[in-house]
This record gives sequence, C-alpha cells and structure tokens, in this order.
Amino acid sequence: MEPCIKVKIPATSANLGSGFDSLGLSLTMYNYLEVSESDRVVITSTDEAPIPKDEQNLVYKTVKYLYDVCGKPLPGLAIRQTNNVPFARGLGSSSACIVGGLLAANELLHAPMSHEELLNFASTLEGHPDNVAPALLGGLVTAVIEGGKVYHVKQTIKDDLMFAAFIPNFELKTAQARRVIPQEIAHRDAVYNLSRAALMSVSLYTGNYGNLRVACDDRLHQQYRLPLIPGAQDIFRMSYEFGAYASFVSGAGPTVMSIVDTAEFDFEGRANEWLHEHGMTGWRLRMLSIDNRGAAVKRTDAPGHTMEETENSGPHSRP
Ligand code: HSE
Repeated sequence: MEPCIKVKIPATSANLGSGFDSLGLSLTMYNYLEVSESDRVVITSTDEAPIPKDEQNLVYKTVKYLYDVCGKPLPGLAIRQTNNVPFARGLGSSSACIVGGLLAANELLHAPMSHEELLNFASTLEGHPDNVAPALLGGLVTAVIEGGKVYHVKQTIKDDLMFAAFIPNFELKTAQARRVIPQEIAHRDAVYNLSRAALMSVSLYTGNYGNLRVACDDRLHQQYRLPLIPGAQDIFRMSYEFGAYASFVSGAGPTVMSIVDTAEFDFEGRANEWLHEHGMTGWRLRMLSIDNRGAAVKRTDAPGHTMEETENSGPHSRP
C-alpha cells in the first residue's frame, strides 16, 4: 500500500503593517493535506473549496517541483485537501499550499532536503518569505531572502494576545494588491518603515505591547491598498476604540488583523455587534491565537487511516 503523507499547515499574517515582505506570524487556523503517490492525478477536496483538480493545482505543482529538483519521476499523485484558510484574503492560503506540498514531497522522497532548504524553495516559489517562513516554522518570523537563501529568526510569542481577523466576503489577489504600490519611495518613508518594523518584532517578542500601535504603522503599502478594501479603515478605528494594541492589513489584504490583549475578553462581542450595527455583514470575525509550532507532517498507511507517526511535529522533530 502506498504511504499517505498528512500535513497540517497554519494560516499566516504577513507584513504586520510596517514589516513589508519581511515579518509574518503563524495563526491557529489550519489547512490539511493528504498526499500519496499514484499512477494518475486525482485531486479531491473535503469541502466545497473551488480548487483546481488538475496539474494546475498549486499543491500538485509544488510536489512536482521538488520531485524534479530531486530528479525523481512523478507518474501521478493523489491529493486530498481541506482548506480552512480562505483564498485570496491575506491569510497565506497559497503559502499553505506551497509549504504543505514541499513537506509532503520531502516525506514521500524520504527527507532528502533539510527544512532550511525547503524554506529556501518555498520562498523562491512564493516570491517573498513573510508567509512561507511562519507557515513552516510557526511563531513570529523575521526573514530576508538573499541570493535564493532565507536568513531568518523565529521568535516564540506569548499566549497573552488574541489576533482578531476581520475577513471580508471579497477576494483581493496579491498581484493586484502589489500593482498599486509605487516603485519608488522617499528616503524618509524608508526610515519610517524600517524603524517601525524593527520595533514591531522586538516589541511583540518582549511583550512591550504598548509600542505596537506606532510600530505597525506603515508608508510602503497600506495607504495604497486601503482603497481596494472598503470598510477597512472603519475597522481600524473601531478596533482601537475597543482596545486593540495594533491594527493592520493582513498580508496583501483584504483581511484586517487586530492584535488584542486576552484581557479584552469582550472585544469579540463588541466588534461583532459593531459590524452588525454598521451593516458590515460581509465581514466575519475570527478570533485566533499565535501558533508557535508551525506545519506538522506525518506518514500514515492510507488516507483517513492514521498509523504510527513517523514524524509528528514537522520542522521541530526532524531527525
Ligand atoms: N508581503 C506580501 C505583500 C504578502 O504584502 O504583498 C502577500 O503575499
């Protein structure tokens, strides 16, 4: 019987406002994959997610990529996807496919690649590391890609924060959201962002949450993207009024992410009430937490039947 590889991949929130293309964190919302070798391509979905069922499928393309890199033929593949991370919402759905596909392929190939190498491949495929790095590693990741190699630091974040994801009912493709960003910026705006990005990562890590509102502010991308996300600025204002530490466009948008202290236990109720009162019924609020663990992978005997775990915590227990 062909081994089946199961992978669990977290959603991510990139940029954190000021850390454009370099900061990202991992959240407690998950996609799942079951992947096994086959004599043909069979792609199914456990939900109604409209995924491509042919060789254009991103998980398939990523598995095939690693097989090609390793010089191993891939006659076919059976993929079963559970997509809880919504598409094109700034929560790392494509990174989840890339990281999941690479981990599954590496496991099917008996782990020829280290996780450092997988991260380099993932960042090259995605074009920037700020979603794939936290998806693979968990926690808060600061990452730079240089010459195809990712230089990064993962930091574990305390569990005294909630991440309020305001997810609209419309998509915003990353390519469209990148087209509206100017090619050149003023020197003072570069300083504005680099100082805040540094403050953002160190403040989150050390628990200096009072810095976050200033630290997440940005002049590189959000002001250009906000016109594509009607309602986002009102959600920023409401979040701060209800006690959020920070509020920013998650990744390329359109989700708005607010960082809230767990002591603000009534934030969710008040925010939902506000959305209702303001007729913003196309937005749903998901209260998430940091995932400090990252993607996990295990080998089983067949889809749906879990056997002994050969590797039960992905990047952190790899022999
Ligand atoms: N850093 C990326 C962007 C994240 O803002 O365009 C989306 O993949």
